[in-house]
Amino acid sequence: MKTFKFFTSQSIVFGCGALDRLGDEILGFNSKKVFLVADPVLEKLGIVDRVKGAIEKSQIEVVLFTKVEPNPTIELGEEAAEIVRSQKDIGTVIGLGGGSSMDVAKISAMLANNPGSVRDYIGVEKVKQFGLPTIMIPTTAGTGSEVSNASILADKQKHLKLGTMSRFLTPSLALVDPCLLTSLPPSVTASTAMDALTHAVEAYTANKAYPMTDLFALKSVELIGKYLRQAYSNGENLEARYNISLAALYAGIAIATASVGAAHALAYPVEGEYNLAHGVANGLMLPYVAEFNMLSNLGKYGEIAKAMGERVEGLSERDAALKGVEAIKQLCVDLSIPLHLRDFGIKEDVLDHLSEQAFGIKRIIDNNPRKLTLADIKKIYTMAL
Ligand SMILES: [Fe+2]
Repeated sequence: MKTFKFFTSQSIVFGCGALDRLGDEILGFNSKKVFLVADPVLEKLGIVDRVKGAIEKSQIEVVLFTKVEPNPTIELGEEAAEIVRSQKDIGTVIGLGGGSSMDVAKISAMLANNPGSVRDYIGVEKVKQFGLPTIMIPTTAGTGSEVSNASILADKQKHLKLGTMSRFLTPSLALVDPCLLTSLPPSVTASTAMDALTHAVEAYTANKAYPMTDLFALKSVELIGKYLRQAYSNGENLEARYNISLAALYAGIAIATASVGAAHALAYPVEGEYNLAHGVANGLMLPYVAEFNMLSNLGKYGEIAKAMGERVEGLSERDAALKGVEAIKQLCVDLSIPLHLRDFGIKEDVLDHLSEQAFGIKRIIDNNPRKLTLADIKKIYTMAL
């Protein structure tokens, strides 16, 4: 019965071959010159050249920026923005890659039309107006950044990830071509999809979950339960790739409105300080957070169990919910996602510090379905140790 406002990208092109439509889509924004943000790995794999070629076929000039590293910094976002600001004829910004490239692309497009620096806009709805049109092309199936209103950049000195959230960061177009993903190695397929699963589970159970986000979130859980093991086992299985990309997109649509919960809040300090990939940190934390959160909504965790293909007939509501938690954990095991912080050299004596960092991410902690104290967070970290 709650009133809600739903966010997503202005449009979505999805399917194998979507990349062939990129030139026309850019011309639709009346652009003859684009800023293409990517990373050195994609450059080495030839994917940047492929996308660049697809754009140049339509006589559109490309300014390349391929300096994006995992967990990009605020400074990198500003460096990219300076280029866009200095070349006035750039009409569209493209983010090609995982979340990192898309985050840098969104922020540089935003700063083209908004004065000041990244730090002026960190937080919720501080951006004053739309930046340049943006096209997001994910090369993993995980982050959902292609449809979200957020850009997350790192403050290196404080070891913190800081989010800029605004309706003006919502991409103009999400262009998702699952066939771009067939060469992803199994470990990346697994970790990025665990990010998507964390989005889906957290959006579905969040305080800000609404009927419309539930549709996308639960369907995403179902697709991941059904297809992720196949995509992991054989990356060239196009049906599996298609459906996992769809699952990541759906989960991204869900979090753009419902946001995430404690698994993300507990993952952020770990990835910030120990340089873990976002999906790995989420995959590690999700089973423990789900176990803790389960009591807050047994019915929804039972639905997660069903969506993940578990049999729940005849079970009590609590046992069905527990099946949901176990199904998540089993998926992590099957995909070789590390399940212990100690696997990354994290020791008990840093848990107080990590807990304080996580507890400080109020916008997420307050969205978690079970109220969390600082002691609860330490308890969850201790379970995950
Ligand atoms: Fe995430």
